[in-house]
Amino acid sequence: MSNVSLDRVATQQTADPASCGSRFVRACLGRPVDRTPVWLLRQAGRYMPEYMAVRRHHTLLDICRTPEIAAEVTITAAERLGVDAAIIFADLLLPFTPMGLEFEFLAGEGPVVHRPVRTAEQVAALRTDRVEELQYVARAIERVAAHFRAPRADGDALGIIGFCGAPFTLASYMIEGGSSRNYIETKKMMYSDAVAWPLLMEKLVSVLAGFAAQQVEAGADVIQIFDSWAGALGVADYRQYVLPATRELVRRVQGLGVPVIYFGVDTTSLLPSMAETGADVIGLDWRVPLAEGWKAVGSTRAVQGNLDPITLFGPEDVLKARVREVLAEAAGRPGHIFNLGHGIVPGTPVENVIRVVEWVKEFGRHE
Ligand code: CP3
Repeated sequence: MSNVSLDRVATQQTADPASCGSRFVRACLGRPVDRTPVWLLRQAGRYMPEYMAVRRHHTLLDICRTPEIAAEVTITAAERLGVDAAIIFADLLLPFTPMGLEFEFLAGEGPVVHRPVRTAEQVAALRTDRVEELQYVARAIERVAAHFRAPRADGDALGIIGFCGAPFTLASYMIEGGSSRNYIETKKMMYSDAVAWPLLMEKLVSVLAGFAAQQVEAGADVIQIFDSWAGALGVADYRQYVLPATRELVRRVQGLGVPVIYFGVDTTSLLPSMAETGADVIGLDWRVPLAEGWKAVGSTRAVQGNLDPITLFGPEDVLKARVREVLAEAAGRPGHIFNLGHGIVPGTPVENVIRVVEWVKEFGRHE
């Protein structure tokens, strides 16, 4: 644990005693806990009937932009599953609107940006001065924080997670115009425009740091930065084109006094470089055994992961064995947060999700 992290523990203790009563926050800071904390990526989503019931009456963006509904969806999922942290219901792409980029979610297709950013002029036109328009997320966090203010029956306070995208992953949606397989346009700009690419990274860092600050002020205990598609990059490209801006974003969010979780998928070869962002916690996917991933990011950092979300479709004995395996890989060392390696997918049996949480609580005790 670095001195900087220890300083933050001290700050949190004086500034917000509730956060330190949270085993989730303590684990993020690498401190000992009574048992391994657990929450799940996409814990509020289409696999859950309660979410689908809300979704029948509201679009995804309506839910995100209406604090009462976003808070309700967040709270319902956390309570139904009995997890140790609630991630605010929002979406990675929300900051596009105040930056001047129109987008929508099309059924079956995911997000679509109608006029993708392809030129230096378009990058120059992106706005960074309207972050205030994202305050609806902070209003939803305030509601979630008020709901979970009191400690639970076991004396532990639920952790509240705010989040934002990482510069590379958000740039990829801006430039490709949606999800992508080969990231051709993104890499073209990255390799060939020494003006546009750094300017885009800088603008994203500025907007995302402001957005994270609103969330922390509203009560988020931890910020998770999603670099879901960083795994598309080789190590040299990640280090040259992506690491500097990401490190700056992490530094600015940590300056708000909260730990940062930095998450990506298919990142086995990138893990040592991702640790150089300085994030307190690094997300691991299931392609790397947890102990090996932890070694790659260094023992001074915490890790989060790393059950394959598709094991949730498997039979009970296999699922249980895999949960035990993840915990055995962590070996009870301080600084492990149990999670999936990526989000719960639609169609996942809810009872299996609940079982996994129960098993972690049972098998993850540290006496
Ligand atoms: O419970 C939670 O995890 C919080 C909710 C959450 C959503 N999006 C709501 C959502 C979170 C954390 C996100 C982050 C997000 N958004 C990411 C990073 C997470 C990851 O999976 O790596 C990304 C890449 C996005 C962008 C995005 N939003 C895509 C690609 C899609 C389409 C995916 C699909 O399967 O169709 C979305 C839509 C979206 N965001 C849904 C939810 C619950 C599903 C669509 C819906 O309800 O209509």
